[in-house]
Amino acid sequence: MKRVVVFGCSWGDEGKGKISNLLSYQTDCVVRFQGGANAGHSVVVNNKRYAFHLLPSGIINPQCLNILANGMVIDPLILKSEIESLGDDAVFKLAISNRATIVLPIHQHLDIAKENLKGQKIGTTGKGIGPAYSDKIDRINLKVGQFCDLFNLKKYLLDKELELKSYNLSYDLDSLYTQIFPYARYMASFVTDTAQLINELIASGKKIIFEGAQGSMLDIEHGTYPFVTSSSPIASSVPINCGIAPWLIDGSLGIVKAYTTRVGNGPFPTEIQDELATIIRTKGHEFGVTTGRPRRIGWLDLAVIKYTKMISGISYISLMLLDVLSGIKQLNICTHYEIDHQPINYYPSTIEELEKVEPVYLQLAGWDEDLTKITKYQDLPINAQKYVQAIEQITGIKVLIISVGPDLKQTIVRGKLFD
Ligand code: IMO
Ligand code: MG
Repeated sequence: MKRVVVFGCSWGDEGKGKISNLLSYQTDCVVRFQGGANAGHSVVVNNKRYAFHLLPSGIINPQCLNILANGMVIDPLILKSEIESLGDDAVFKLAISNRATIVLPIHQHLDIAKENLKGQKIGTTGKGIGPAYSDKIDRINLKVGQFCDLFNLKKYLLDKELELKSYNLSYDLDSLYTQIFPYARYMASFVTDTAQLINELIASGKKIIFEGAQGSMLDIEHGTYPFVTSSSPIASSVPINCGIAPWLIDGSLGIVKAYTTRVGNGPFPTEIQDELATIIRTKGHEFGVTTGRPRRIGWLDLAVIKYTKMISGISYISLMLLDVLSGIKQLNICTHYEIDHQPINYYPSTIEELEKVEPVYLQLAGWDEDLTKITKYQDLPINAQKYVQAIEQITGIKVLIISVGPDLKQTIVRGKLFD
């Protein structure tokens, strides 16, 4: 394969950043294709931890071109501070789509205000993602190319003032304009037609990773609506969000955590309600990289992974955080759901129906050994191998990569992904 989508297969925070960074050393380019600064991708290289929100996880790899594609919503203030926070590690092989959409502080303001008004709160990251995508669909937001033209920016802010008033919100738009002005100029140096660029890279045989943010169950089309994000993080959304033909994608690497987490509200059928959740949360450092919120913890849900395989396609699995499960006597893997004691062979589309599902578990014996220094599959404890094999058997997908710690070296690779 040459062009591979690396994407989250459940509710986000699966470990996409580590794998995307790892694979960036075998590729020419990493493209972020949707979402915005709601993402929190942490990468540990040589004991140094990086947290990326907008930048692709290949940004610290000097060989790699990094692209923010048209499907993204980009907050120029966050982008600039993220680039600056990299200091000497910043690599400016960066291209930003002229067709990506802008997020401004007023979108964050609206995000928080709308959440506060809602009876049923989504638990958003408060980064302005929903309001920015809403404005895009409403055909009133600015594209990056227009944002760099300051006349358009002023006009847009004036329109926004009216909407803010309707929420009884006030914002000093004059000072926002003055604040934003230098960022528009800063961003302009990276802006280009990335659809054209990506197509040229493909034509010249370059290897590309398309790095997803969030996860399939947060997908606006196929996820647990309305408890979702406002974009489409699944592999099949890459063509439209990057401007390439669908047949130019060779395959996908589904990032699957060895257990499940969810941050924010919404259904979570395999959620663990007892003390074990705290143990896993603490050991797995399951706190949001973007918001610091504690993540909800659950058993591995293969009903979700099989659904993701159907709607998006998963060529291989990268299994993350397997080391966190060491020391748990008995492990549960959800194989499918039942409603009224009858197995169901589809993923429920409504919250009401999801509330009725009972996960059916395969119970496996755990292991006590520390996995964090293991680099070969055959050195894993036999019960850990059985855990991996169960995933392969139930999903019909090969587990190609196993991560046993945050560092790039703590990775078991069982085969080649790229040609
Ligand atoms: P990464 O890329 C986990 C969740 C929020 C909320 C819902 C909507 O690190 O996997 P939004 O701010 O997008 O409007 O919030 O989506 N959410 C994530 N959960 N990981 C993420 O990103 C997320 N990005 C958004 O918690 O439930
Ligand atoms: Mg994250």
